[in-house]
Amino acid sequence: MKNIIVLVSGGGTNLQALIDSERSGMIKGGHITCVISSREDAYALERAKAAGIKTRVLARKEYADIAEYSAAMRDALIEENADLVVYAGFMTILDEQVCRAFPYRMMNVHPALIPSFCGKGFYGLHVHEAALAKGVKVSGATVHFVTEECDGGPIILQGTVAVENDDTPETLQRRIMENVEWKILPKAVSLFCEDRITVKDGRAFVDL
Ligand code: GAR
Repeated sequence: MKNIIVLVSGGGTNLQALIDSERSGMIKGGHITCVISSREDAYALERAKAAGIKTRVLARKEYADIAEYSAAMRDALIEENADLVVYAGFMTILDEQVCRAFPYRMMNVHPALIPSFCGKGFYGLHVHEAALAKGVKVSGATVHFVTEECDGGPIILQGTVAVENDDTPETLQRRIMENVEWKILPKAVSLFCEDRITVKDGRAFVDL
């Protein structure tokens, strides 16, 4: 069984989707062993505790800079014997020392169709505001491996939804979460735990 460590910063609906998927037997070959939050007030921590999962808080504000924070996170992940690290609404960009310690062993869910609306500054509702401002007719979400380039790692899974004329950032976010994120993130985690993802020449190939 692979040890899955989930990193969170907020509400934790993606974490909940992972917990529910593990419970229903959908995640084969892996087990969530620890949830680490960058904020002590993240509701995601309550979800983890309710599911009986170990929690840790590594508060970003307690570290002088991103290098110190990344070093602490790398050490915590090694201590937890992480086989897979999942960013599930984790809002801090860690530096290269973490990516190097876990090459192609960290994945992130991003609420847009990468390479659109991604990179620094594109997180949470800001992503959906930008998509609506551009007038795109479809949007969606992407699960990708985390590399040193923000939102630039190999794409594992994507899914789409239609954008409606009367959408607000909130309604679009909700549709993308329900129809895409909560499905493709557990799916990608299970594929990883079953060794069904390979990376070659910067591309991820999935044995579906
Ligand atoms: C999700 O939509 C996730 O894709 C996004 O934040 C939300 C977190 O919700 N992540 C990012 O924007 C990362 N760049 P959750 O805490 O309820 O899972």
